[in-house]
Amino acid sequence: MSLRSRIVRRWMLLRLSPVAKLMRRDGLTYLRPVKLVRIETALRRLEQRRVAGDYLEFGVALGGTAALIAQAARRADARFVGLDVFATIPPPTSEHDDAKSRERYAVIAAGEATGIGGDVYYGYRDDLLDHVGQVLASVGAPVDGRQIRLVKGLFEETWPTLDVERVAFAHIDCDWHDPVLYCLNAVAPKLSEHGVIVIDDYHDYPGCRAAVDTFLEQNPGFRMVPGANPLIERR
Ligand SMILES: C[S@@+](CC[C@H](N)C(=O)[O-])C[C@H]1O[C@@H](n2cnc3c(N)ncnc32)[C@H](O)[C@@H]1O
Repeated sequence: MSLRSRIVRRWMLLRLSPVAKLMRRDGLTYLRPVKLVRIETALRRLEQRRVAGDYLEFGVALGGTAALIAQAARRADARFVGLDVFATIPPPTSEHDDAKSRERYAVIAAGEATGIGGDVYYGYRDDLLDHVGQVLASVGAPVDGRQIRLVKGLFEETWPTLDVERVAFAHIDCDWHDPVLYCLNAVAPKLSEHGVIVIDDYHDYPGCRAAVDTFLEQNPGFRMVPGANPLIERR
């Protein structure tokens, strides 16, 4: 790592909230500090502007980013919904997903993936939903089925059953093309005027990038704010 990268990384670490630092220390999130800072900054801005609507996460895994979002929802007196299969990630299904994505999935499906810091890979844990419940409780946002909810299943099956009418914040962190495009199309029409969608994998997986680019082409009322994890906002 170059000296400049090390300085930037150190600066980003200093800007993280205590809870974000804990999530990283305990190996509960895959996100680099720069991405966590962007999420926390977006959440603070929503609180300052009192943007109305639910706070969502598509792709919870071990609950590291869900903890930050659920906490912010509590502070804003809003609802948090975290959606995930809470099991092994579904396969990439689009021609836009590249060989690297398919190889990554093949390793996971073969039972050969390792987790953060050498832990068991989260997708192999059969207590994942309970585990995330404990993470949320530990940050003062216990799952109560009302204000703080975890919804298990494929987004494509669970989202249509939810009563979300207005969205203040959505974190879309689900790697492959089809779920990213599905989530964008599901959430964007419900996004509040100053609401924000954060896209995690734009620079990591070409399928995600293609999904976002397609969405923006088809929806000129939205724009992208570039960055490590780009933001999608209304124009
Ligand atoms: C990269 S992980 C999320 C990481 C997490 N936000 C963090 O803080 O590290 C992606 C998650 O998306 C979930 N996922 C992907 N596609 C899905 C789908 N179609 N329906 C439900 N869950 C899905 C996977 O199971 C996985 O848990």
